[in-house]
Amino acid sequence: TTFEFQLNGRAITWQGDPFQRLTNLLRNQLGLTGTKSGCDAGDCGACTVLMDGRQVCACIVPAAQAHGTEIVTVEGLSTDAKPNGLQRAFLHHGAAQCGICTPGMLMAATELLSRSPRPSETEVEKAIGGVLCRCTGYRQIVHAIVGAHKFAYAPDPGHAEGPSVGTRMQRVDGEAKVSGHELFGADTAPENALWLRPVRSPYARAKFSFGDLKAFRAANPSLTAILTAADVPGKNGFGINPHIKDQPAFAEGHVRFRGETVLALVGTREAVDAIDFNALPIKWVAEVSVSGFTEAAREGAARVHETHPDNELVQGGLNKGDIEAGFAAAAVAVEGALKTAFVEHAYIEPEAGFAQRIGDRIEITACTQSPYMDRDDCASILGIAPEAVRIIPSACGGRFGGKLDLSVQPLLAV
Ligand code: FES
Repeated sequence: TTFEFQLNGRAITWQGDPFQRLTNLLRNQLGLTGTKSGCDAGDCGACTVLMDGRQVCACIVPAAQAHGTEIVTVEGLSTDAKPNGLQRAFLHHGAAQCGICTPGMLMAATELLSRSPRPSETEVEKAIGGVLCRCTGYRQIVHAIVGAHKFAYAPDPGHAEGPSVGTRMQRVDGEAKVSGHELFGADTAPENALWLRPVRSPYARAKFSFGDLKAFRAANPSLTAILTAADVPGKNGFGINPHIKDQPAFAEGHVRFRGETVLALVGTREAVDAIDFNALPIKWVAEVSVSGFTEAAREGAARVHETHPDNELVQGGLNKGDIEAGFAAAAVAVEGALKTAFVEHAYIEPEAGFAQRIGDRIEITACTQSPYMDRDDCASILGIAPEAVRIIPSACGGRFGGKLDLSVQPLLAV
């Protein structure tokens, strides 16, 4: 079947999987990576585009559903390669920080402004309610949309003041973020790059063993390689603590959390996607998991890591002053048992990147906030000198400390 639709004013005709996500069609086939892929579940809104003028999450729209419609993405907001009024308002208000939510925010705002050019804060909050932002606290975004009409024709008033101490500065990489041209981890890769699909443990704690991987590979000739811990040339361990490198790139014989990588399939995207998880020759023996501090500290609890007796990773000290004197001198004393929850950093951009060999060196491009730490751990995993590894950070769609640790880098390196 042939499908047709209008994309940013251009007629598009395509053939292919009608059930693929619209994000996939836009990003991977039509090259419009301004539309971001965050959760692929319609939760984060980073993929928001306009379909016949209404905002939709492109990740949960089957591509065939776009047939006969008019789609507008962030790349279609401006016709003269200069930011439009809304984009200038975002720049002026500092509404694009990491920028991963920005295209989605702009599209949701565009829908609102098309029917309400001077919206109230409440209207704006309602309109952008489906798009999450982890950086700005939303206020700058709301202010930018409420005040967008001021930027419709006039130049950015912030610039009119001229550069001097105390004037508002536009962020240096702001334009790339509001135009959708910023390249995050999953937005680029060398042409014809192979894809790597990690195969992860469905169990929080299990022993596992491989059957005949060679035979499996022979039966699936479209795969280029199957990588396991046996392919790690150096030390199979990494971690952000300089002295504790206890997280393996590929698990060896047992897994310690649900989602731990046990092997990687390498090949074309179609080839790695086509492999059925249940067809892989992996034998799992599930074990009772250890969850939470209390359970892990219980006498006789299963050891998560052989190297950490009593499931204790590190010990730390706390120096206290004279508590009683402090209470006595305080105007008010509040006492209670307080408990906080574990909170994931929850940056919206998924971990992504690519690796290529350049001469005698491996270059890894990935969304990371700590290229030198990545370099040292990847060098140790590969068993080569740190100088033979170059890490090139892509734009980072949120980090909050969560992208200090390695994710895809060791797998790409191997
Ligand atoms: Fe919104 Fe970073 S600027 S998620």
